[in-house]
Amino acid sequence: MMDDQTISTDRRTAMALGLAGLGTASLPGIALAETTAQGRAEASPRRSVLLAEGWRFHLGHAADMAKDFDFGLNQRTYAKPGRDVSPATLADFDDSGWSAIRVPHDWAVDLPFAGPAAPAEKDKEDAVAAHGFKTIGRAFPQNSVGWYRCRLPVGAADKGRAVWLEFDGVFRNCKVFVNGFEAGGSASGYAPFRVDIADFLDYEGGANQVAVRVDASLGEGWFYEGAGIYRHVTLVSAAACHVPQWGTCVRAEVDGEGAAVTILTTLANDAESPAKVTVRHAVHDAEGRQVAMAADHLAEPGALGKVEFEQTARIRAPRLWSPASPYLYRLTTEVLRDGVVVDRTETAFGVRTVTFDAVRGFTINGQNVKLLGVCNHQDHAGVGAAIPDALHEWRVDRTLEMGANSWRSAHNPSAQVLLDICDRKGMMMIAETRLNTTNPEAMDELERMILSSRNHPSIILWSVGNEEGHQGSERGRRISAELVARCKALDPTRLTTQAMDQGWDGGAAEAVDVVGFNYRTDKIAAWHERHPDKPVIGTETGSTVSTRGAYENDEARHIVKAYDTEHPWWASTAEEWWTIVANAPYIAGGFIWTGFDYRGEPTPYPAFPSVASYFGAMDSCGFAKDNYFYYRAWWRPDQPLVHLLPHWNWAGREGQPVPVWAHGNCAEIELLLNGKSLGRKPMPRNGHLEWQVPYAPGKLEARGYNGGKVVARDQRVTASAPAKLKLTAERVRLAAGGADLSVLRVEVRDNAGNPVPTADNALRFSVSGPARIIGLGNGNPTSLEADKGDSRKAFNGLAQAIVQGSGSSGSARITVSGEGLSPAAIDLFFH
Ligand code: GAL
Repeated sequence: MMDDQTISTDRRTAMALGLAGLGTASLPGIALAETTAQGRAEASPRRSVLLAEGWRFHLGHAADMAKDFDFGLNQRTYAKPGRDVSPATLADFDDSGWSAIRVPHDWAVDLPFAGPAAPAEKDKEDAVAAHGFKTIGRAFPQNSVGWYRCRLPVGAADKGRAVWLEFDGVFRNCKVFVNGFEAGGSASGYAPFRVDIADFLDYEGGANQVAVRVDASLGEGWFYEGAGIYRHVTLVSAAACHVPQWGTCVRAEVDGEGAAVTILTTLANDAESPAKVTVRHAVHDAEGRQVAMAADHLAEPGALGKVEFEQTARIRAPRLWSPASPYLYRLTTEVLRDGVVVDRTETAFGVRTVTFDAVRGFTINGQNVKLLGVCNHQDHAGVGAAIPDALHEWRVDRTLEMGANSWRSAHNPSAQVLLDICDRKGMMMIAETRLNTTNPEAMDELERMILSSRNHPSIILWSVGNEEGHQGSERGRRISAELVARCKALDPTRLTTQAMDQGWDGGAAEAVDVVGFNYRTDKIAAWHERHPDKPVIGTETGSTVSTRGAYENDEARHIVKAYDTEHPWWASTAEEWWTIVANAPYIAGGFIWTGFDYRGEPTPYPAFPSVASYFGAMDSCGFAKDNYFYYRAWWRPDQPLVHLLPHWNWAGREGQPVPVWAHGNCAEIELLLNGKSLGRKPMPRNGHLEWQVPYAPGKLEARGYNGGKVVARDQRVTASAPAKLKLTAERVRLAAGGADLSVLRVEVRDNAGNPVPTADNALRFSVSGPARIIGLGNGNPTSLEADKGDSRKAFNGLAQAIVQGSGSSGSARITVSGEGLSPAAIDLFFH
């Protein structure tokens, strides 16, 4: 699988890849990468190129924006393949006026907001509100179609080979043209797809052009979905007789002392004559040692044919994959013709045994583990749905830090790179298909999800639906039964679930293996009595709402306090649901809605200017809200923690009681105000502590005791006026090449260095050196500021800048300043 961070973009790489007849000078900025495990370009007979750079984008109709945006109207038609539809699909079309962009790309994030006068019903189901009040969708046709063009790095050396494009996700309804031929496309905004292009290429030195028309007029969700090529695109050139995309399936089953490995291989022969090849598989451990082999298999696919076969191998004393030790093996598949390796693929996999039962809940490798889960959409401040690999990783790290061990990709298949990261980091995953229906499109999407993802050890369940209108009915049972049957046919190793918000006594609940409860956690016990043999899980839990760093509700300003008290009618507090799940061994776990705030589905305020949800344990930047620490306390009980709220800046409230809470997991917690103890209290298991403290400025402090000793502390200090800025990043040493990035945290501080928890100063960013800001944010769900650019206000003391390398190596300095504030700077080193 491709790692966006290991790309090199230079001319030398192109030369090493032997792009004969290509002329890299005509391909400025094309990012090239090799997918061999060792990264040795010359070693691989297969060429895999991540198409990250070199794209141009145009919003609206490609050829004449003024005329129309409807596909085909006033344009060429489908009369003869090769001159398909629009001149913009041809190599000689002049796209010099289009914007140069990098993929992944989300054009919706740059669009203006619709404003209060939007054609909206202002409720949860309204398409405009649901998509974050962005001016996209049927009401804004001029913003809903976009075109992309990219020159393809193929040439004479690719003649006679299989050449295809892999799209990991395009939102949505896209058509892919190569040199004027419509080559493929996908209606789904989420399922990955492949487009074979060998027949349409020019191998004689002419330019080769891909054009992609994307139509996001219709949405698929009730949340912000982005628009455009928001996930990776990869060009693959392989021998005519090759392993096609998703052509390897590895299943490892522990038996006795070892693991039996079953390898299913598909071999495609794109040549017009039959092939005779040997297929060889070897398994390597994480240290690169070969630990198993399969007996060679002789395959003879016919002309333009395909064969499938099964081989076995055995790993002695395997190291198992688990959240605590995410150990990965690597299967190398080689196709040999006359003793020469003509194709090679690498597939990461893990060896682990997963069970769900109605008594013990979830086990992995025989160990009982509670699923401590988060649901997430693919959306982040500054970048929208176009999340670069390093930002996916950063989001997973923040989530692991909270103590979560599992993630539900709601309500659609996730980016492949997120699965790779989860495999590496031990984050377990529920993969969910978008459509709970059985029409050909939905079945195909499910199939693509499973074929693309079934080797990932992180995936523990397939989810076939979420809160479907028909969930509790016989129709709902029948539909889910068909989807489940397809899951089992493609992957007999995993169980299935469906997220339901009612009707658990029948319908889809009868069809799936593990019944999913969305909320209503307090109803699970009675249901369990009626269905004592059925495994159960909280597919959505919590749905608390809060504004990060706010401690009083303010309806007029759409602010929700961050105490664990606020939630919509269908939901519960964090403490309520977690206490139930923690105390019921048979409940496999729960997935909070959500890990991160996301654009759209503005809840609890469905009206402008709330353009985002307030559900996250973290805000849209990944800044922790207070509930993050509730989970952190009880999901990592071996790491002593005390967390105090609210902030301690209540000028004008002197002497009035302020509700003070402590989250934490120490046996006792003592609260002190300005050095004077307000008493020590035992912390209830899975609970929190509360005090009413008459406000006096100064220092509010909490000490956590275990066995009579202080093991954790936290404090809130009354800050004076904003005076300076602080800029920090977890990573300052980054890979050059244009993909790697760092997430910068900006804090507003007073003269003494105390964080100013109410600061909303306007900030300005500048960059010198090989880097650029790709997005800004502050976590305010009512902010209407631009995500791109160089200025952003702080929100409750914090802001975020996402800084990506611009290609070359060297050091870059990022400076943040604001009126009346001492600026701050940080250096990032790209090498
Ligand atoms: C559920 C739904 C989620 C989200 C959530 C908000 O009903 O599955 O997508 O809308 O409620 O609480």
